[in-house]
Amino acid sequence: MPTAFRRTAVEQIGLAPGERVLEIGCGTGRNLPFLREAVGPSGRVYGVDFSAGMLARARSVVARGGWDNVHLTQSDAADYRSPEPLDAVMFGLSYNTMPHHRAVLARALELLEPGGRIVIMDAKLPPGIGGKLVLPFSIWLMKKTVLGNPYIRPWEHLEPLVDEFRMDEFLFGSYYVCRGIKRA
Ligand SMILES: C[S@@+](CC[C@H](N)C(=O)[O-])C[C@H]1O[C@@H](n2cnc3c(N)ncnc32)[C@H](O)[C@@H]1O
Repeated sequence: MPTAFRRTAVEQIGLAPGERVLEIGCGTGRNLPFLREAVGPSGRVYGVDFSAGMLARARSVVARGGWDNVHLTQSDAADYRSPEPLDAVMFGLSYNTMPHHRAVLARALELLEPGGRIVIMDAKLPPGIGGKLVLPFSIWLMKKTVLGNPYIRPWEHLEPLVDEFRMDEFLFGSYYVCRGIKRA
């Protein structure tokens, strides 16, 4: 991963102290420290993941931090309902691991307040010949690890649904963060 990629992705959300943010597919909680730092003690961080094993590790991160404003839920993200409207939602390396990603994206937008921010951070195939060369390796790696789908182009799913769409690429286009604002 690019240096400080997680911190960079969280910075792209533009969180302010006191805001409420959800990470979809929070896994073992690697992004939670950055999200918690951004919203501070008066904000709230929600995380959803359907893996009990991943969540157990994320809960240790939360306990170690002593954070009482980070709430984790075991659920399919497509069925998740947040206890309150959200200012921001982030997919952290998770969008392309979800076969029903469009349904999860629709749910994420439902959970957001109008004007709320949505961010997808993930790996992707680099453009041009580089992408063709690494495709077999990407497929092999994804099958062995996160079961992601290297063929989908999540930024093309997000762009038509939001205002102020923006995408930044990193490490020769092999990682990206894309973001937009929920329409009023
Ligand atoms: C590659 S991990 C990323 C974890 C973490 N966000 C990170 O950045 O390290 C993808 C996570 O998405 C979760 N996930 C996949 N499909 C899901 C679904 N339908 N609902 C909730 N979580 C899901 C997996 O359990 C896994 O923890």
